[in-house]
Formats: sequence, C-alpha cells, structure tokens
Amino acid sequence: MLTLSINGADLQVDVPEDMPLLWVLRDVLGLTGTKYGCGIAQCGACTVHLDGVAARACVLPVGSVGQRKVVTIEAMKEHPLGQRLQQAWLEDEVVQCGYCQPGQIMSAVALLAQNPAPDDQAIDLGMAGNLCRCCTYTRIRSAIKRVAQA
Ligand code: FES
Ligand code: FES
Repeated sequence: MLTLSINGADLQVDVPEDMPLLWVLRDVLGLTGTKYGCGIAQCGACTVHLDGVAARACVLPVGSVGQRKVVTIEAMKEHPLGQRLQQAWLEDEVVQCGYCQPGQIMSAVALLAQNPAPDDQAIDLGMAGNLCRCCTYTRIRSAIKRVAQA
C-alpha cells in the first residue's frame, strides 16, 4: 500500500510500485484529465507536477514518487496561475481537438511559476516537450504571453 499526495489530499493506493503514475491517476483514482499519448515520454500529454515541476506520468513508476506532491490538471481550477492560463486559453481560442491541452497547461503553469516573464525562446524551450497534432503552438505561445504580461 502506497500513500500519495494527490492534489492536496493524502490517498492510499494498493498498486504495484512499478505501475506508471499515469495508470494510477486514471485507472485507480479516476483522474482522467491527464491523458495518455505515446507512453514513452515523447509527447507531454501525461504531464503532471511533482513538487511544482513538470513530469511525465507515463514513465514514472508510482513507487518512485515518494513524498513529492503530485498535482494534476484537475487542481488547476483552484490554482492562481492555472486559472489565469485557462482563461487566456479561452480568450485566445487555443484548443482544437483538445487532447494535448491538459498537458500543455500543466507545462505552461510550471514554466510561468519558474519564469514569470518568459521571452519567445524561453516559452519554446519550456513547452518543447509538449506536442500538438493540431499545431496550436502559436496560440499557446500567445496565451502564455497574455498571462505573463498581465
Ligand atoms: S503519454 Fe507521457 S509523454 Fe506521451
Ligand atoms: S489540440 Fe489537438 S492535439 Fe493539441
């Protein structure tokens, strides 16, 4: 039995330690906002925060999480930066199919938490691990700038 800090709550899960965190979030805890894309740390769809740092939940064995605080897209509605970014996403009409967007927002929150005024290069670098098949990159950058400049 493992105890995990998920979105501010201590939760106990009875799972193998080598199960990826993404499976625990989606299939055990029902937190389906975090998406499965590639499963090999290449697309960013599964991005969550571990102690505020963006991490790929698809390749992270749950047994390695330890005491670190896991935060998922579900918590962004109460996160100051998450709220502002989601509003900017709406204002810039970023989303197309939407599948990659939870991961995009999680990476954007982690980026702005670390660098509140990123230039284009810093945005591209910070968001480089998140792919979008619908090519919403230009609007994502615009939405991040909207929050950074506010
Ligand atoms: S599903 Fe984790 S990086 Fe693609
Ligand atoms: S909005 Fe469709 S994959 Fe990004």
